[in-house]
Amino acid sequence: MKVLSVVGARPQFVKLAPIAKAAKADGVDHVIVHTGQHYDPLLSDVFFDELGIPEPDVHLGVGSGSHGVQTGAILAALDGVIDAQRPDWVLVYGDTNSTLAAAVSAVKMHIPVAHLEAGLRSFNRRMPEEHNRVLTDHASDLLLAPTETAMRHLAAEGLADRAVMVGDVMTDVLMQVRQGVAAHTGDLAAELGLEPGRYRVATVHRAENTDDPDRLRAIIAALAGLDQPVVLLAHPRLVARAAAASIPLTAGSLIAHAPLAYADLIAAVSGSAGVITDSGGLQKEAFLLRVPCITVREETEWVETVDLGWNVLATDAAAIAAAVGRTPSPTDAAPYGDGHAAERVIASLRRAH
Ligand code: UD1
Repeated sequence: MKVLSVVGARPQFVKLAPIAKAAKADGVDHVIVHTGQHYDPLLSDVFFDELGIPEPDVHLGVGSGSHGVQTGAILAALDGVIDAQRPDWVLVYGDTNSTLAAAVSAVKMHIPVAHLEAGLRSFNRRMPEEHNRVLTDHASDLLLAPTETAMRHLAAEGLADRAVMVGDVMTDVLMQVRQGVAAHTGDLAAELGLEPGRYRVATVHRAENTDDPDRLRAIIAALAGLDQPVVLLAHPRLVARAAAASIPLTAGSLIAHAPLAYADLIAAVSGSAGVITDSGGLQKEAFLLRVPCITVREETEWVETVDLGWNVLATDAAAIAAAVGRTPSPTDAAPYGDGHAAERVIASLRRAH
């Protein structure tokens, strides 16, 4: 069986790591295509090196652009690659412009498409990620869902017969990396002279938060005004938008820092008092590490983290300040699987092949 994975953005490299491992263990002929959506070494190369992902077989080098330009460039470049490779499956990941472009390219060429992380919904039709998820799910032949909630969403859209519940591959990675990081928990704290357990970790990169200067200014002011230091792991989109609006990212309690590699991020979160983020992956990682999270959005796709009390949605300064003091109740719930999702993905591809 030949599987062609298309990835392009940071969270997709994390999801690719356990898939590449499971594919190798199962003797799958696995071709990796990197679209080049993320090209900064800190958002791309570092994940391949650290998570032991094989070098991409093909690199499209599309880079940044408006949604149409970026999605269209990937779509145009993929036709030739898929035609030359003729895989049994094209496997697409998550909700980025790379995901949608690869799904459309494959479906037009009559190559079966499988969508990993299918069925997530924010029901916010202004989010580019929401367009990408809905369109990709409806174009795909096999929907690999991470949670029961995702399965329900797919059923509600008439897609139940293409859906299979596999669990969340990000749990696989976290479980593999967690053991190794215990030893160096606190590296970030040591670098910045912070006391372990007395700082917070923040990320802000969603267009809805970065691209409106007033909203961005309010979020940054809310973080800067918190009682403990907040390390802001600044994504390039945030850095660019903050610079354009003359908003300093180091101010008050806020300390801007470059993005971290995966194990360093997990160590930093483990050693923190809490996470404040608009990232999907980080909400779950905080939950799996049982670190309280505040999500700076109106809604989340990972509703289990909220229902279990470990995540609070808060978009203004008062709500964020109120949420930081909470202590969630302990839980042993495992809505994101058992750490073996990638093996189920490969088994599902073989079964449906
Ligand atoms: C993309 C995904 C988002 C995912 C996120 C993870 C879409 C629509 N969005 O958002 O779902 O959560 O990746 O990081 O696909 N830039 C750089 N260097 C890079 C990459 C981007 O400087 O390596 C800058 C560019 O100015 C670019 C901007 O960041 O215009 C936005 O990049 P883009 O790929 O459009 O989206 P992300 O915000 O990274």
